[in-house]
Amino acid sequence: MTATPANQEVSLGMPQLPAPDYPADVRARLDADAKEVVARYPDSRSALLPLLHLVQSQEGYVTRTGVRFCAETLGLTTAEVTAVSTFYSMYRRKPGGDYQVGVCTNTLCAVMGGDAIFDELKQHLGVGNNETTEDGSVTLEHIECNAACDFAPVVMVNWEFFDDQTPESAKRLVDDLRAGRPVRPTRGAPLCTYKETARILAGFPDERPGAVEATGGAGPASLIGLKLAKGETPQHRVVHPRAETPHDGPPHDPSPSEHLSSHDAPQQTSASDPAHPAGPETEEGE
Ligand code: FES
Repeated sequence: MTATPANQEVSLGMPQLPAPDYPADVRARLDADAKEVVARYPDSRSALLPLLHLVQSQEGYVTRTGVRFCAETLGLTTAEVTAVSTFYSMYRRKPGGDYQVGVCTNTLCAVMGGDAIFDELKQHLGVGNNETTEDGSVTLEHIECNAACDFAPVVMVNWEFFDDQTPESAKRLVDDLRAGRPVRPTRGAPLCTYKETARILAGFPDERPGAVEATGGAGPASLIGLKLAKGETPQHRVVHPRAETPHDGPPHDPSPSEHLSSHDAPQQTSASDPAHPAGPETEEGE
């Protein structure tokens, strides 16, 4: 077996197909944007995640051209960029719609109706998971927990929350999106298109009036957990207004409590219960 001379390329039988570059004007604009992003990090390769959002803001998904751009900008190989972009679910590998509609089918949302919503939307839109409607407006996918279990079942559109959904409300939501009717998330910033969202995620300011001030704070159930951890007694019982139409009604005011359940009382911990102090672990049986 003989070694290949250093100056001789090894052919693996694959065609050499470097990804095309962006048109000059697009490249110049993205170069300027990327320079701003990279300058935020002590090590340029740390800018890869925002740069992948930046290329998504250009083409709606991570193209081979986008991978080349990130690699050239950060001094990485295209294999390294591809490895990262295919690891995270927020980066698309193929073209998608203006609205990425994600239905949470993780355990809590699933049992609260997320599975039913996802099945209904597949039927209603005539697409499967990770597929896009023919008009190019909606890409449907099932997603994992979005830390919004207080409001299960949750649907996200371009990562904005639509809480306490039902199959009917979710169908109305996608119908409104496809018809271009205004849609308001339950909380947080107003909705914008996938590409616009990608640019915000790349770290550029959301200049829409009121967008930054809009908050998507934690839900009452999460805050009760915090109060219990602090040894406080919550004043309200958490009851979701399940009968209300989620994006027509007021957002998630808990109903006043008449009786607190024993489960709502502060729990004794080793720190708060001197009768049962935490001590060193003993051998089993001692
Ligand atoms: S399980 Fe759906 S948001 Fe947590």
